[in-house]
Amino acid sequence: MNDDGHSMLAPASDAASSIATLWWLMLGIAGAVFVLVIGLYGYAALRRRGDAASDDDDPASMRRAQRLVLLGGGVVPAVILVGMTALTIVTLDRLLTEHHGSEADVEVIGHQFWWEIRYLGSGAVTANELHLPVGRPTRVRLRTADVIHSFWVPRLHGKMDMTPGRTTELVLHPREAGTYRGFCGEFCGLQHSLMGLLVIAQPPDRFAEWQQAQARPAEVSTDARVAIGADVFARADCGLCHAVRGGARSTPPADVGPDLTHVASRRTLGSATVPNTVQHLRQWIIDPHRLKPGVRMPATRLPDEELDALVAYLESLR
Ligand code: CUA
Repeated sequence: MNDDGHSMLAPASDAASSIATLWWLMLGIAGAVFVLVIGLYGYAALRRRGDAASDDDDPASMRRAQRLVLLGGGVVPAVILVGMTALTIVTLDRLLTEHHGSEADVEVIGHQFWWEIRYLGSGAVTANELHLPVGRPTRVRLRTADVIHSFWVPRLHGKMDMTPGRTTELVLHPREAGTYRGFCGEFCGLQHSLMGLLVIAQPPDRFAEWQQAQARPAEVSTDARVAIGADVFARADCGLCHAVRGGARSTPPADVGPDLTHVASRRTLGSATVPNTVQHLRQWIIDPHRLKPGVRMPATRLPDEELDALVAYLESLR
């Protein structure tokens, strides 16, 4: 998958920058403390060796030692820890109150093991591929359809849990166009580690075009093989789990699996697991468990001809 990476140390938004700054600050403080402690330890060991006559019994020396332990082992660590906690709280507060009170623009729903993405008010529904306009904040509402997941796009924001019965929100505000890798950050079952997503940040006009295209119903192709494929889709009960919005072959709303209205326009299959190619699509239909063991989608055995037609139908959904 071609993407611009996922390192939280290469932030592409102000929120991610403040998290990265906090991380470097903590690394610096922890590094300084480490060097100081090892230095003191080395100093003590060297002094001990050079000075065979112990001064353990000298009361003034004992008091100095006690003071050092109290200060170095109690007061200084307490000050440092309280300071780091305060920095964390200030950063968290800034992240969570950003653009407070605005309406959510998009809803991301965690499923075992994929991401449902609904652009509120526009009717655009997609999966595993979150498009965002560059330079504009997008308020994202998060919830889960089953177990606990955690939405995490390291280059844009911190992790946010998706807990059953609760909705949470965060604001994604990419500074530069790019494709950022996202993850599920909470163990949620067999395919947790491959529950990925792509976040595609693009110029506002390109984003608007994309969103309009995704909101449109599926186009009805006149191609004969595509028509056969649509029948196969119906007979194989694909529509029990997957929606194809609008058109003559509209299926009832179903959100057990990803919305397929514009599946061919997406870059990946299986939650950013493999590139969206005809070969992978065939493999995915025949035996999704080979690509992703434990995935919820059942294997679909079809004669070659019907499989070809089904793939042609899905490829027509652009
Ligand atoms: Cu969803 Cu881990």
